[in-house]
Amino acid sequence: MGRYSISYSLVFTTIFSTLPLFITTIFLCSSTLQTKVESLPLSTNGRWIVNENGKRVKLACVNWVSHSETMLAQGLNKRPLDELSKSIKDMGFNCVRLTWPILLAINDSLASTTIRDHFHSLGLNQTIIGLQKKNPSIVDLPLIKAFQAVVDSLGKKKVMVILDNHVSQPLWCCAQTDGNGFFGDKYFDPDLWIKGLSKMANMFKGVSNVVGMSLRNELRGPRQNVPDWYRYMPKGAEAVHAANPNVLVILSGLSFDNDLAFINSKPVTLSFKGKLVFEVHWYRFSDGDIWSKMNPNQACKEITGNVIRKAGYLLDKGWPLFVSEFGIDLRETGVDDHRYFNCFMALASELDFDWALWTLVGSYYLREGVVELNEYYGILDSDWNHIRNPGFLQKVSGIQLPFQGPDSPEVEHDKVIFHPSTGLCVLRKSVFGKLILGPCSNSDGWEFTPQNILSIKGSRYCLQANKEGKPARLRKNCSIFNAKWELISDSKLQFSSKIRYNSSVCLDIGYKNIIVTNACKCVSIDNTCDPGSQWFKLVDRTKS
Ligand SMILES: *[C@@H]1O[C@H](CO)[C@@H](O)[C@H](O)[C@H]1NC(C)=O
Ligand SMILES: *[C@@H]1O[C@H](CO)[C@@H](O)[C@H](O)[C@H]1NC(C)=O
Ligand SMILES: *[C@@H]1O[C@H](CO)[C@@H](O)[C@H](O)[C@H]1NC(C)=O
Ligand SMILES: *[C@@H]1O[C@H](CO)[C@@H](O)[C@H](O)[C@H]1NC(C)=O
Repeated sequence: MGRYSISYSLVFTTIFSTLPLFITTIFLCSSTLQTKVESLPLSTNGRWIVNENGKRVKLACVNWVSHSETMLAQGLNKRPLDELSKSIKDMGFNCVRLTWPILLAINDSLASTTIRDHFHSLGLNQTIIGLQKKNPSIVDLPLIKAFQAVVDSLGKKKVMVILDNHVSQPLWCCAQTDGNGFFGDKYFDPDLWIKGLSKMANMFKGVSNVVGMSLRNELRGPRQNVPDWYRYMPKGAEAVHAANPNVLVILSGLSFDNDLAFINSKPVTLSFKGKLVFEVHWYRFSDGDIWSKMNPNQACKEITGNVIRKAGYLLDKGWPLFVSEFGIDLRETGVDDHRYFNCFMALASELDFDWALWTLVGSYYLREGVVELNEYYGILDSDWNHIRNPGFLQKVSGIQLPFQGPDSPEVEHDKVIFHPSTGLCVLRKSVFGKLILGPCSNSDGWEFTPQNILSIKGSRYCLQANKEGKPARLRKNCSIFNAKWELISDSKLQFSSKIRYNSSVCLDIGYKNIIVTNACKCVSIDNTCDPGSQWFKLVDRTKS
C-alpha cells in the first residue's frame, strides 16, 4: 500500500457499529462452497489461471500484512490463528497475499529470533501478553517458523497463499524515498533480493497451498527505470522458478505498481512457460483528486481507460492480470471512495480479473511508530472479531466467483446484468414480470441483441420500461419502443429507454431492490451527483 498517509487515517474516530462475524457468514455461505483448493499447482492458460484439470481458479484474495517491523502476520494477539484462517475462508476469500521482507529470508540470526524476544526488542510488551493468550503455540517460535505456521494454518483451511515480497527491510511500505523502492536503492540490493526470493521459494517447495510468489511490491522512486526492470525482474522470475517450479511468478509494474504499459512494446522473455502473471494496484488515490472533482461518469470513463492502457490490455494479449491491491476506507465517509469503488466493481466484473483486497488487517501491532493502529481499510474490525462493514463485504462477494473461464466448443456463452454498487445481478422475480437484484449465480442468461433488445436468452421475454418511478417489466412484445435500450453517459454504464416518444428514463434500483426506471442521473457536466445506483454492466458469462 503506497501513498496512503497515516495522518489521514487518524483524523476520524470509528463511527461504525459492527455485526458479529457469524451474521455475515450466513449470507456468504453459498460462495464458500466453491472456494475449495483443488488440483494444485496452478498454471496459466492464456489470460486464465487454471488448476491441474484446466478449470479456471479465480484468485479472490485478501492481503495479510507480515512484512513490517514485527514480521508476524497481524492480529495474532487478538484471535487464534486457526480461527482467523477459518474466517478468511468463511468470508469467501480463497487466498491470502501474505507479505514478507527479504531480510526475514536471508538474515538467519533475525529469522531465528523468537516472536517473544523480537516483540520485546520493539517494546511491545502488551502485545506479547495478547499473543501468549491467543496463540500460545506461536509466541515462542522463531520468526521464520511463525511465518511458516501461518501458511500452514491457511493450508489446513484450504486457503491458497501468494507470498508477496513487499520490501527488503521490515518496515511500513511504501514511500518514494524509503530506500526499498527500486533496484539499487540503499536497502534494495538486487543480489540479496534474488537470494531472498530463492530461499523463500525453496522453503515452500512442496507446500501445495503456496500457489504463487509476487516478486516485489510497488516498484517506485527516483531510481525506477524500464531497462533495469528488464534487467532484474526476469532474473528474479528465473530464480524463483528454478527453486520452486510449481508457483506462479507474479511481476509488478512501475510507479507504485500502477503502470505496466511498457510491457506492450517489449514482452518479457523467460525460459519457462505457463507460470507468468502480472499484477497491478488500483486505489482511489492512484488518480489524485479526480474522483471528487470530476463528473462521476466522466471520471469512470477516463480512469477505466487509463487502467486498461496501463495494465488491463495484458488480458487481451493473453496474460493473467492480478489486481493485487485495491480497497477503500470502510467508514465510507468519502464520496470519492464511493465513486471509485463502483467504477472499480464495473471493470472488475467486465474483465473478471484475479484480485487481492487491501486488507484483512483490523489493526497493526505497530505501524509507523503507533501501537495498535486501527486500519480503516481492514475487512475485520480492530478487535479482529467482527466484520468492519458487512455491506462492503457483501459487495465484494459479488466478484469472488468467476464469471468466465477458458473457452472451448462445449462452453455456453450468455450475459448477466451486474450492478456494481451492490455486487448483485438483475434477476427475474416470479410475479408480474418484475425484476429484482440478487446473487449473480442465480441469474438467468441474458442477451443484448443488435436491435438493442435486452432479453432472457432462449425465451421471448425482454425488458421494458414502464413509467418513471415504476418497476421495469419482462414482456413478450419486444418490438415496442420502450423495449429498446441504449447505453448512455460517458461511462456507458446507464441503460436508457424511452417511455414516451421523447422522454427517456434509466434503469435504477427502487424499494427492496426492485428494478425500476427513473430520470437519468449525472448525464450532464455535474460533479455533485452520484449515478451509482443506475450503473449496470452487461458481463459475459461462460458455462461449461
Ligand atoms: C541481522 O539480524 C540481526 C539480529 O536481529 C541484526 O543484529 C543484524 O543487524 C541483521 N543484519 C543485517 C545485515 O541487517
Ligand atoms: C518489557 O518486558 C521486558 C522483559 O520482561 C522488561 O525488561 C521491560 O522493562 C518491559 N518494558 C516495558 C516498557 O514495560
Ligand atoms: C406490441 O407493441 C406495438 C407497439 O406499441 C403494438 O402496436 C402491438 O399491438 C403490440 N403487440 C402485442 C401483441 O401486444
Ligand atoms: C416532446 O418534445 C417536444 C420538443 O422538445 C416538446 O415540446 C414536447 O412537449 C414533448 N412531448 C412530450 C410528450 O414530452
